[in-house]
Amino acid sequence: MAEEKKKLKVTIDDITVEVDPGTTVLQAARQIGGEVVPPAMCYYGKLEGSGGKCRTCLVEIAQTSAENTRGMPKLQISCRTNVMDGMVVKNITSPKVMKARKGVVELLLINHPLDCPICDQAGECDLQDLSYEHGVDGTRYEFKRRTFPMIDIGDKIKLHMKRCILCYRCVYVAQQLTDQRVHGIIDRGDGAQISTYIHKAIDNDFSGNMIDVCPVGALTDKTFRFKNRVWFLKPMDAHRECGHPGCSGKVALWMRGKEVFRVTARKNEWGEVESFICNECRYEKKEASDWVIEGPRKISRHSVISQGHYVGTVKPKEIMPEVMKGRQPQLLMNIHSISQVNMPDVDLSEINGPATSPVFDEAAKEMGEWKKSHPLPDETAANDVVRKLMDGEKNK
Ligand code: SF4
Ligand code: FES
Repeated sequence: MAEEKKKLKVTIDDITVEVDPGTTVLQAARQIGGEVVPPAMCYYGKLEGSGGKCRTCLVEIAQTSAENTRGMPKLQISCRTNVMDGMVVKNITSPKVMKARKGVVELLLINHPLDCPICDQAGECDLQDLSYEHGVDGTRYEFKRRTFPMIDIGDKIKLHMKRCILCYRCVYVAQQLTDQRVHGIIDRGDGAQISTYIHKAIDNDFSGNMIDVCPVGALTDKTFRFKNRVWFLKPMDAHRECGHPGCSGKVALWMRGKEVFRVTARKNEWGEVESFICNECRYEKKEASDWVIEGPRKISRHSVISQGHYVGTVKPKEIMPEVMKGRQPQLLMNIHSISQVNMPDVDLSEINGPATSPVFDEAAKEMGEWKKSHPLPDETAANDVVRKLMDGEKNK
């Protein structure tokens, strides 16, 4: 009979769990779940070798093992520390950890601009969440911050180097998922940066996954930039038969009405991709008809995205057809003809670039042409129509 593997007992924040040998403290905490799980900005379950770069997952080892009841003198990173039998770990129960984590956040924010109001990652940014939960109100840093120009990495990815926290996740994606890695972190210390050396385009079928693993807004999807805020979009689970070896074809569609604004891989409760997807699924399949839509995505993670979530909501009773005796409200309320609001021809996800007012001015000009070819009642005439209909209702 095969010998059963001995399980190791570890206690994290007074909760004991049994894990296999070789499990890290972070993975053990994830088995417990909830608030005892340390935040992780660089560790990524699916990427071999990740972890050990950001220091956000620090914990206190209060007892090293059943045999060695002394703790470790310094805080340890939970993503790279293996569990020992009888180990006692403190995360949220340790004031030392809480203080150190504040320091780590302050350090990460030294060079990270407070771009959230204009950053596409806002609402799903790990650093934003981390600074809300563990950050301090101000900064003590008085020196010049490092800045970098924005760079296009290929035609679909924009790199904002000043937002990068040098977690290496995108480098591991390129190393482990694609045939050829053409980028990496060059230079060291204050000058360290993600670079393709000669700004060579990263051109391979899985490069878009770098966007998904980036914990901040350093790598963003150029087909989605400035198109919408994530909390206005509804994530839907969808899949398609994808011929690419290595692509699961299982995605999250970020929709508003029937428009698909972006396609991403599905992420689990730790914000990590469940299975990687190819660039064709990500960039080329932006029609709802390209996908088999399974239903609204369950957001288990604490996130602003879940604020706008609508699973289990009760739809209010539709009273308009009842009040109007079966007539559709569109008869009276289609305002496209008398207002430039909600221009039906402007498909936000199709606008090539940011949705700024000049774009709408352009669209408004086109709308003027459209209106000429669709003569409809002016405002007074529309009001007359409404009045007549209401009089008709009253006299019934
Ligand atoms: S670009 Fe993003 S994923 Fe890559 S090292 Fe910087 S923060 Fe990490
Ligand atoms: S997640 Fe452990 S050091 Fe970054």
